[in-house]
Amino acid sequence: MSKKFYITTPIYYVNARPHIGHAYTTIACDTIARRHRMLGNDTWFLTGTDEHGQKIERAAQAANKTPQQFTDEISAEFRALWERMGLTHDDFIRTTSPRHQLGVQALWRKIRDNGYIYKGTYTGQYCVSDELYVDAVGPGALCPDCGRPTETVHEENYYFKLSAFQDQLIRLYTEQPDFIRPETRRNEVLSFVRGGLRDLSISRSTFSWGIPVPDDPKHVIYVWLDALANYITALGYGSNDTSKFDKYWPADVHMIGKEIVRFHCVYWPAFLLAAGLPLPTSITAHGWLLFEESKMSKSRGNIVRAETIVEVLGADALRYFLLREVVFGQDGSFSFDALVQRYNSDLANGLGNLASRTLTMITRYFKGEVPYPSQTAHTPADAAIADAASKTIADCGTLFDQYQFSRVLETAWGLVSAVDKYIVENEPWALDEKKDEESRARLATVLYTSAEALRIVTALAHPVMPDATAKIWVQMGLGDIKKFDLTQLQWGQLPLGTKLGEVQAVFPRADKSAVERMQKMEEQKDSGATGVPPEQPSEARQPAAMPAGQTAPAKPEASAAKPAAIIPEGKISIDDFAKIELRVGQVKTAERVKGADKLLRLEVDLGTEVRQLVAGIAEAYEPEALIGRKVVVVVNLAPRKLRGLESNGMIVAASPEGGKPVLASFLEDVPVGTRLK
Ligand code: ME8
Ligand code: MG
Repeated sequence: MSKKFYITTPIYYVNARPHIGHAYTTIACDTIARRHRMLGNDTWFLTGTDEHGQKIERAAQAANKTPQQFTDEISAEFRALWERMGLTHDDFIRTTSPRHQLGVQALWRKIRDNGYIYKGTYTGQYCVSDELYVDAVGPGALCPDCGRPTETVHEENYYFKLSAFQDQLIRLYTEQPDFIRPETRRNEVLSFVRGGLRDLSISRSTFSWGIPVPDDPKHVIYVWLDALANYITALGYGSNDTSKFDKYWPADVHMIGKEIVRFHCVYWPAFLLAAGLPLPTSITAHGWLLFEESKMSKSRGNIVRAETIVEVLGADALRYFLLREVVFGQDGSFSFDALVQRYNSDLANGLGNLASRTLTMITRYFKGEVPYPSQTAHTPADAAIADAASKTIADCGTLFDQYQFSRVLETAWGLVSAVDKYIVENEPWALDEKKDEESRARLATVLYTSAEALRIVTALAHPVMPDATAKIWVQMGLGDIKKFDLTQLQWGQLPLGTKLGEVQAVFPRADKSAVERMQKMEEQKDSGATGVPPEQPSEARQPAAMPAGQTAPAKPEASAAKPAAIIPEGKISIDDFAKIELRVGQVKTAERVKGADKLLRLEVDLGTEVRQLVAGIAEAYEPEALIGRKVVVVVNLAPRKLRGLESNGMIVAASPEGGKPVLASFLEDVPVGTRLK
């Protein structure tokens, strides 16, 4: 029976461009949505962008744009990328859109009229990067969540009576254990809430990039209340037409990354309870994609763009890799080597090879028509494949419902290997050579069995790899896979005599150069790390052969023809300069070095690693004053020892003759790890 199914991604901040971390969640949701559509469920899939708040306002300032201009551009990039990747969201909500603003204000009024909002004064620390009020004490204290310095806020604002919901929330998590998945996250939330809930400040008045508080427009609504409401405003909550809201709310699943669990599992249900609205059925948090050992994030600057992978290997390869390689719920590493290895072993040599060998043999031996399996030429090996296929269908269904994508694919690919082995053992090519009637009947059975198993794997893999499976489906003569009813999938339904389409490789093998090509494209991208969109976004997509880190000249063809520039005496070339790797670091620890008046021992976070440095700045700076400070580090300086301590790099400072050194620093906020060039 058809059910409704409503699934959402987080709405992504537009302070920088999308990367494969965002693609990961969106792909997982797209896969789930596609499966539900194949099962005949009335599915609604929502994504969008989160565009208000101080963090966005500052990123826009740094880019010299108005917030609206800035958010328009980056939101458009998200939409263009999702379109290029063929994602099937039914709606894309922007928090700057009028429909959202109306809905948020309606929600505010409802909560206020129900008596859960009051005015008060907040003094304390705020983490702009997380847009989170934190318990840290004192100016400059580091955010307990992300470790960045917080800012002191002192303002009159509106409060939400979060404390009133503590018991109801605890009851919710206990009575509905699937409300938060996986269990580790549920336990974290439970202990957080059991620790006591304080009322939450839900308005700001020291900046204006937000939705005005109804009846008090000096204040803007706290960006997380604004953002979370997207899940209902997109359905028309608070508007004249609530038909979608009536049909799809509550959400069946809010899919999120594990760092925003508290907002979704504590604040959001409390807001809904306060407004008297139904709660989502479940919130599922997945782990982080790591790159070079740390969380891939725009603020760390260690991102990989989806475009690069889509360009070189295709969207299906990215989807397959992310869902197969990472155990959903846990952290997982991304690397280009692992991507290409998986692509070759599982797709080119796995499914792709099974499809092309099976369909090619049917074309060659049976004029491209699916042969009739013989009633007599049966062996236990055929029955074993049929049984394995039936079990695969059942197991994949269960695993899919639990969002265990890696096991779904592992299970389905178990069938691919079994059929490969079956083909090798039954040697259809040898049967073809014999030409007697019995061999012919056996050949028909072997190829029918292989093709039927291929059909089943293809249908199961469709939500994960929509393009490639659609092609295989057409090659099998089965038409449009989107119209296939997945509830009907069972062994033995490949229509006999089906005329195959033209057989073509769906996953051509990738060689080592694919890795190099992708790495080069990423090195040449405009550093998404800066939070500032590039002047000419198209440049980043030019796979021109420029030295890493150098921006392409306006007309590469013209400059390529010029002879190499002659470097005047006493000058260096840009390549010489590029040898010095300067990066933004953040001081984590600082202490005096015993017996050395001038030296401090520092631990500096470079985004990808934390390094020990010894710097001659003790006469100019107190160690405590340096904690949290961003500095410029020469990262590739050979290590040396000072007073027995290894110094791994150098901090850059202005060093006036006879005066104290002054550390190089930035006026705008800049992500840790960003390269200076
Ligand atoms: O938090 N690994 O937006 P955001 C896995 N606007 N997933 C990742 C990831 C990574 N390295 N990086 C990002 C916000 N994601 C808020 C949300 S919702 C009402 C408001 C994914 O741009 C993951 O889903 O920081 C994560 O939760 C989300 O992007 C955060 O995106
Ligand atoms: Mg984030």
